[in-house]
Amino acid sequence: MTQLNEHQSDVLVIGSGAAGLTIALNLAKQCKVILVSKSKLSEGSTYYAQGGIAAVFDDNDTVEAHIRDTKIAGGGLCEDKGVRHTIENSKEAILWLIKNGVSFDRDLDRDDEGTEYHLTREGGHSHRRILHTADATGKEIQLTLQQQALTHPNITVLERYNAVDLLTTQKFGEGSNRVLGAYVWNRDIEHVETIKAKSVVLATGGCSKVYQYTSNPDVSSGDGIAMAWRAGCRVANMEFNQFHPTCLYHPDARNFLLTEALRGEGAILRRPDGSRFMPDFDERAELAPRDIVAQAIDFEIKRLGVDCMYLDITHKPTEFVIKHFPTIYHRCLELGIDITEQPIPVVPAAHYTCGGVMIDLDGKTDVDGLYAVGEVSYTGLHGANRLASNSLLECIVYARSASEHIIANIESISLPETLPAWDESQVSNSDEEVVIAHNWHELRLFMWDYVGIVRTNKRLERALRRCQMLQQEIQEYYSNFRVSNNLLELRNLVQVAELIIRSAMDRKESRGLHFNTDYPTKEDHPKPTILTPDSF
Ligand code: FAD
Ligand code: SIN
Repeated sequence: MTQLNEHQSDVLVIGSGAAGLTIALNLAKQCKVILVSKSKLSEGSTYYAQGGIAAVFDDNDTVEAHIRDTKIAGGGLCEDKGVRHTIENSKEAILWLIKNGVSFDRDLDRDDEGTEYHLTREGGHSHRRILHTADATGKEIQLTLQQQALTHPNITVLERYNAVDLLTTQKFGEGSNRVLGAYVWNRDIEHVETIKAKSVVLATGGCSKVYQYTSNPDVSSGDGIAMAWRAGCRVANMEFNQFHPTCLYHPDARNFLLTEALRGEGAILRRPDGSRFMPDFDERAELAPRDIVAQAIDFEIKRLGVDCMYLDITHKPTEFVIKHFPTIYHRCLELGIDITEQPIPVVPAAHYTCGGVMIDLDGKTDVDGLYAVGEVSYTGLHGANRLASNSLLECIVYARSASEHIIANIESISLPETLPAWDESQVSNSDEEVVIAHNWHELRLFMWDYVGIVRTNKRLERALRRCQMLQQEIQEYYSNFRVSNNLLELRNLVQVAELIIRSAMDRKESRGLHFNTDYPTKEDHPKPTILTPDSF
């Protein structure tokens, strides 16, 4: 018998950013797909991506140079297979986007009447290799792909559906571990529904929302990582959370990024007194990889006891700045900053989750039938620090290869029988929402203070103790009260916080994005930090 509000499909895709949309569109050629998205369809990091997407399009550039730059930024922890898979398939991934209607800026300065793409430059890249749509590349990708998904006959889009947990054979007491679908919370009617599927894809993005200050939208709460962990998947390299060096410092602008392409096109970082400081930290100055730039800004802010540093592009012609960075120019102007005439106040903020759910080249996780693509996943591409503009690329490349694997295997899988409905018989409406609100603040604040850009053993131990206390409280709350969006996200955030802290404690060195003053040097033979669900 089918339950009320039980859905079924060949494949369930959770998440509607670059990764989720790309895999849904590729799968839809041969399968029925349900795509769930917990907020507005467009809301995710993809929409806000500014700089662009990296690939070898310049005749003087090579795949080997892109691989080399990726590995240098990755600080000795990139995995060769993941790096090669992504970069060797980068051009095809871009051509797929173009074929699907994504429009990148052309290079109007060339003699061939603008038929070639304009390539910008970002930190850590030895060549110009970033394709972009002015400074709003993610918006172009998101809106183009989502329009296609919305009109595709094989894709059912469920907006404002928040995936709560994966359903697996193991959860129903079987020895093997195969995914069967997921419980999803329909936000509009506040009801948990069941989706059965032959395969499930996690495309839920990262978890930078675990930090007080972040460039990410609210949806980046690590749901996919937490769900996969609870379902039995290993996660890797969670200690490597990337802090973007330059987010706008302004009381009325939360999360607004100032793309690295500004520095790529000549912007200079200055102290409040106007002096330049990056050459004191690295010979690549403003174009050093972002772990180095973020640490330098953090160091100068703390050393001088000031609120922010400044990014200065006033020496470039006004028309150039407005043409290349229209979004930033207009947003800053609304806030009273004319970037063509004034340096921009900047601070670092949590930006990207380099670790995640471990997958192979086909996007497969440790649970049969469960795939993960995009920022939720760990592929080995980023190592200890992601090279700018490699992440949209990773989304598209892995979404394409995972879709091929799913299509090749889907016929041999049958849909599960009826699954138990969500049981609400033991819970009531929350009586004290303040607990959730308080725990949200507490968690994000201690993660920022104790597990941020600079770590120490003591701070990590403190953070773990607080995290465990919050986990207990939140689990109790979750068992007694009806779910809400804030509760679901908090439950996941506190889970990923523990994974970040434990990974940071396991790493007895400083490397890339992980800097612990108690272990300031690098180990000779570094390895990824892999956590297994039954190990603690
Ligand atoms: P997202 O785009 O974050 O999408 C996640 C989706 O999952 C969303 O639809 C969300 O609603 C949904 N979701 C999450 N949890 C659930 C749940 N429980 N149930 C249902 N749905 C759920 N990278 C680059 O390569 N180049 C750039 O220029 C660049 N600029 C950036 C600028 C900013 C401001 C930010 C924040 C990031 C930037 N990045 C950039 C990083 C890049 O944008 C992201 O890594 C990438 O877009 C991630 O795509 P994704 O599809 O994995 O996740
Ligand atoms: C940026 O535009 O600076 C962000 C690029 C990225 O995160 O890859």
